[in-house]
Amino acid sequence: MSKRKIVVMPGDGIGNVVLPEALRALEAAGFEADWISAGIGWEHWVAEGNPLPEKTVELIAEHKVALFGAITSKPKDKAAAEISPALRDKGHVYFSPIVGLRQRFDLDVSIRPCIAFPGNPLNFIRRGADGGAEEPRVNAVIFRQNTEGLYGGVEWTNPPDQVWEALDTHPKFAAFREVPREDLAISTRIFTRAKCRRICEQAFAYAAAHGYGSVTVCEKPNVIRETSGMMLDEARKVHGVYPQIQLWDTNIDAQMMWLTKNPEDYGVIVAGNMFGDIISDGFAGLVGGLGFAASANIGQEVGVFEPTHGSAPKYADLDPSIVNPIAMVLSAVMMLDWLGETETAAKIRDAVAAVIADGTVRCYDMRKLRGGPQAIDQGAATTTQMTDAIIAAL
Ligand code: NAI
Ligand code: MG
Repeated sequence: MSKRKIVVMPGDGIGNVVLPEALRALEAAGFEADWISAGIGWEHWVAEGNPLPEKTVELIAEHKVALFGAITSKPKDKAAAEISPALRDKGHVYFSPIVGLRQRFDLDVSIRPCIAFPGNPLNFIRRGADGGAEEPRVNAVIFRQNTEGLYGGVEWTNPPDQVWEALDTHPKFAAFREVPREDLAISTRIFTRAKCRRICEQAFAYAAAHGYGSVTVCEKPNVIRETSGMMLDEARKVHGVYPQIQLWDTNIDAQMMWLTKNPEDYGVIVAGNMFGDIISDGFAGLVGGLGFAASANIGQEVGVFEPTHGSAPKYADLDPSIVNPIAMVLSAVMMLDWLGETETAAKIRDAVAAVIADGTVRCYDMRKLRGGPQAIDQGAATTTQMTDAIIAAL
């Protein structure tokens, strides 16, 4: 049988460090594939004026599954200054290649599990009723709509006439009518019923398959009545198919306030793009932060798996590297689950859990050290040592 082909895009900075570590863990666990390298990121922007090369898009279209490390994004002026002189003033405009991938392949479902590993010294601790410390068992999985809403990109400063006139048909626009056009910035929040429906369906299906008792819609329908309202409507409809699972709804602001009060009460959470981004970072902070935060971007046909952290330029060139490979490894494990390789996935996840519980091998973040080469002398494991420990625990 020919081996499965998987596109690997290390990208920039520590993406080049953590992605090969994840492949090492996958192979050690017995998962074999042909890894098809593809370029993405800043280097491609500088050299080609496009951080998401067409060749990469073609490879993903062909093979349907990809692992992604991280990319570097820089503001408009830096992007213009760093592009190769031959490409300057030729109309190239920088855009985030990961957002580009989500749009190109309609990766509309983002899954971000925030599940505490027992023994992780970075787990959230709060004061209990008796005054002592208690560690709630956080086990939340965030389903974030990944393509629409406030990140849909339909926005203007100084909107064109047609847009202004259309807005002016809304009675509430009266408050903005006298504002000079160039002082008017507008970002739209477009939700579609089909995408609301799909994210809710995926959330409930996941809850049912993984034994979660509740799905919480985290939006703000009392104020953002149309878009948040549509998400809640669709959740209620999908709930009809899963009467055994409870449907709760919370407002994003209140949810952030409750985050540290009772995080253990939440199971699957579903939200639009921006609130999903916020709530998933919030929960990730309770279970170890960027060194642990894994994610999946899932479309109808294609899946792209990535840690939520970025390229961490300040640690990119450290040799040996000190960054924690666990977020990348757990992202690769999500890929295995998606591919149906659930046994291998469980094996690696258990190995990660064992290393964390054992506590002998901990990266600098887990030792609460300042990052830098000195961290190793202070007892931090290197990136490679962490992966070695995971492999040894398989
Ligand atoms: P970052 O996530 O790259 O790093 C922030 C800090 O988090 C690091 O300095 C480090 O202290 C810690 N950290 C990150 N990954 C870690 C790991 N695996 N283990 C231990 N600690 C880790 O975010 P930052 O510094 O804001 O952005 C750097 C670059 O990355 C920017 O160009 C930004 O645009 C880009 N970025 C890319 C993302 C992506 O590729 N999906 C996501 C976030 C930022
Ligand atoms: Mg984010």
